[in-house]
Amino acid sequence: MIELTPHLDSERRLPLYEQLYEYIKGEMVKGHLQTGEALPSIRVLAKHLRISRNTVEAAYAQLVAEGYVESRPRKGFIIKEFDKDVWMKLEPPFVIPLSVSPVSRYRYDFRYGHIDTAHFPLRAWRACLNEAMDASREELLWYGERQGERKLRQQIARYLFQARGIHCSDEQVIIGAGIHQITGLLCQLFSPEKNKIAMENPSYDGIRAVFINHRYQVLPISLEQDGLHIAELEQSDATVAYVTPSHQLPLGMVLPIGKRQKLLKWAETRNAFLIEDDYDSEFRYEGKPIPALKALDTQDRVIYIGTFSKVLTPAIRVCYMVLPKQLLSSFYQMFSSYHQPVATVVQKALALFMEKGYLERHIRKMRTVYAKKRQTLIHAIYDHFGEHATIIGEKAGLHLLVHFHHVMDADRLVKEAKGRGIHIYSVAKYWFDSQTSPPPYILLGFGSMTEQEMIEAIQLLKDIVQATRK
Ligand SMILES: Cc1ncc(COP(=O)(O)O)c(C=O)c1O
Repeated sequence: MIELTPHLDSERRLPLYEQLYEYIKGEMVKGHLQTGEALPSIRVLAKHLRISRNTVEAAYAQLVAEGYVESRPRKGFIIKEFDKDVWMKLEPPFVIPLSVSPVSRYRYDFRYGHIDTAHFPLRAWRACLNEAMDASREELLWYGERQGERKLRQQIARYLFQARGIHCSDEQVIIGAGIHQITGLLCQLFSPEKNKIAMENPSYDGIRAVFINHRYQVLPISLEQDGLHIAELEQSDATVAYVTPSHQLPLGMVLPIGKRQKLLKWAETRNAFLIEDDYDSEFRYEGKPIPALKALDTQDRVIYIGTFSKVLTPAIRVCYMVLPKQLLSSFYQMFSSYHQPVATVVQKALALFMEKGYLERHIRKMRTVYAKKRQTLIHAIYDHFGEHATIIGEKAGLHLLVHFHHVMDADRLVKEAKGRGIHIYSVAKYWFDSQTSPPPYILLGFGSMTEQEMIEAIQLLKDIVQATRK
């Protein structure tokens, strides 16, 4: 049985029963109440809204009289089918433009950010969730530790030491619900004079939005073949820089050691902070593992951000940051009344998942799975396009960038491909000035595609690219 909670105002001229009638009709038109659903009984609704039964009865009678609702014996008041169009014309539907369905409408979707769900260790995750539920009622049902569950923070500190060469204590680890939320905290933490943030150009538009929304001035710093143009950064008057040294997003290059040292030196001499976003460094397929920038940070100037979105799943919404010790007391002061945004049970389950070695095992497995997918994609591109295509971001973890040589208009190609059921992506949004500078590269995320799907899609793409030539 549905519940209804309209705002009924006894001060209004319109009688209460009419207000209720208007409300129910309006919700039916908007699709919030659907054909076949039963309205609450007169007694229940009157009690819930603390109004008289007569008021509810009169509203329902009006709806019945106008044919919106029918009264069925033993079933109550049921919403009937009616022509919404007439009403839609009067009231435009409320559209949320930002909402994107997680399920793709396309036969082949090269979306960046999607992971391979087929290999997700569901059984182990479920077992950890069950075990996490064994905690005491107080632990499970109250607000958790503000900074995040200590066991999880300990596991993360241990993991960062082993996998990324970072030395930190669990006191420095803050658990957050995704990079946007945690970077939002950072934006509030910096002192007001640190209001200019340098970012690689191109870079992650999602983070740029966070800085802009927090009224920061964002300064684009161009990239060289081997990553950030350090001299340009030095010439800027930024006092914070956001960087992706392990895998530049979206171009994929790895920042060499010499540039890392220069970056740290810049932070030291400028009394600046570096935000290191290490979002998918685990998926490195060639060469030796390179320690994080934070691992070289002897002056404690690097704020390190990591996520479980790529190595496990974005659905659990868990990320973390390692704060320099000098920022900790301000953090505690400023956010001492904020509650932890990630569900306690999820954090406990994740701590168990790491403690039992499931995460490491999963990462090892996924490295092989993704390496194979990446190879398949690269081969398919070279098989079908040969020297007419260049792969640019092959060092990235879960995506590639491709330049199809005679394609000058990436948007057009994206549109044509969509028409044939293939969702490929333009990279324009990563550039600061997306109107002029972006090259016509195409981004192909391979996380969620099977090898067979990629082979089929690239074959189809060949025809589409050829057709755009004409
Ligand atoms: C550059 C970058 N950083 C971080 C993230 C992870 O964000 P979250 O932890 O909110 O899933 C992403 C996700 O796509 C990303 O592209």
